[in-house]
Formats: sequence, structure tokens, C-alpha cells
Amino acid sequence: MKNSSFFQTLLTTLILVQAPCHGATLANPPFDLDFGDLQVTWTRNPDGNLDITVTGKTTGWVGIGFSNDQSMLNSDVILGGVGCCNQNYLYDAWASDHAPPAVDTQNDLTLLSASEANGTTEIRFERPLATGDGNDLDLTQGPVYLLWALGPEDITDPTQAAYHLSNRGVSAGKIDFNVSAVPLPGAVWLFGPALSGLGIWLRRKNHVETDAANTATAG
Ligand code: HEM
Repeated sequence: MKNSSFFQTLLTTLILVQAPCHGATLANPPFDLDFGDLQVTWTRNPDGNLDITVTGKTTGWVGIGFSNDQSMLNSDVILGGVGCCNQNYLYDAWASDHAPPAVDTQNDLTLLSASEANGTTEIRFERPLATGDGNDLDLTQGPVYLLWALGPEDITDPTQAAYHLSNRGVSAGKIDFNVSAVPLPGAVWLFGPALSGLGIWLRRKNHVETDAANTATAG
């Protein structure tokens, strides 16, 4: 009885202590970055794929890219938008130069939606963290920089895309896309099994002591 109330108090204290830290200790999707003229929001789907939304101030293409440095050179870029006659488009591409990127031979993107209104274009798509394509960065291998750019016109071929001028940028730091939702406070994951073990040990100890007392009384 004494042991079980000790166990309950410990568990309650742990939950209360963790409550205010919840936001700070947890990876709480959706994640977002606001670059001013372009916003990126992402989360992980139950199947583990990234679900990314890009919203940019243009009626042309919106683009993001993954890069190991802060340069457009050798970056894994994605361009999308709503073209003529409401044709949605999305290109999985690779930029090897400060020039229009080349479309990957293997497409690893799934366009979920695209819309354009009031001078703003929004695309939403899925991408596996690791695509197995040499022209995509493997996002399970560590954090990367996020590039962005806005194109002045829609495209039917990225190699014909017009220059973004100064409508481009890059994240200040590297971003780890390989994070998932953790539904419970981290400490519960860490200390939960330990607390269960402690509870079982205390109950067993209690049993042994009660048995010993019973034996002593009986004897
Ligand atoms: C579509 C054809 C593209 C052309 C012709 C082009 C061209 C260029 C050029 C000439 C520069 C260097 C001058 C400057 O800083 O503006 C540059 C830089 C940059 N571009 Fe592009 N680009 C294209 C597409 C893209 C795309 C799709 C992205 C990202 C999604 C991108 C992101 C960037 C970034 C972040 C920089 C600054 C960093 C750096 O100098 O590498 N560009 N681009």
C-alpha cells in the first residue's frame, strides 16, 4: 500500500514536471519555415513520407531545393505550379549549375494538390525521405539546407525555366527532415519502462516481506 502510493506519487510528479516542457522537448509537426515571399510547411505521413506544402507569391513556378551547402549548385530541386488551362505541374529535378535544372529520369514526387489565387501559388506533394535516386539527396543521412525560389512564369519544361532574379533564398541553418511525431513526452518513453520495472520490483518486494511476515506469524 505504502509502496503503491509512492509509485503513484512518482508517476504523477513525472507527468506534471513534463507537462510544461511538452512543446520544447517534442518534435511537433507540422514544421514550417517562413522566408517572407515563400512559406514551406511539412510533416511526416503515417507511411513515413514527407508531406510538403510550398506557398509562394508568384503566378509562375514555386521551387524548393535540398542542398548540402547553401548553394544552388548540385542541389535537389522541386518546381511546381498551376499552368495554362489549370494544368497542375510538379518536377523532380537536379540543378548542377546556376542555370535551369534538369528533370530527374526517376520521379519520386507525388503531387497532392496545386492552386493559384490572388497572385499566390501553392503546391502540396509527397516525397520519401530516401528515394534511392542519385539525383535526390537522401534526407535520412543528416540535416540539409533548404533552398527556395520563385519563378516569374509557369513552365512545361524546367530546362526552359526563366531565372528567379532576386526571388530566392536559403535557410540559415541545416534542417533535419528525418524527425517524426512523438506522441508522448520524451521522459515517459525513457522513464516509463524504468517506472514499470520499479513498480514490479516494489510489488515483488512487498510480497516477499508479507510472505515472510506470514511465515513468521504461522511459525
Ligand atoms: C529555373 C532556372 C534557374 C536559373 C536560371 C537560376 C539561376 C541562378 C543564378 C544565375 C544564380 C546566381 C545569382 C543569384 O544569386 O541570383 C542563382 C542562385 C540561386 N538559385 Fe537559382 N536558378 C534557377 C532555378 C533555381 C531553383 C529551382 C532554385 C531552388 C528551388 C534556385 C535557388 C537558388 C538559390 C538559393 C540561389 C542563391 C545561392 C547560390 O548562389 O547558389 N534556383 N540561380
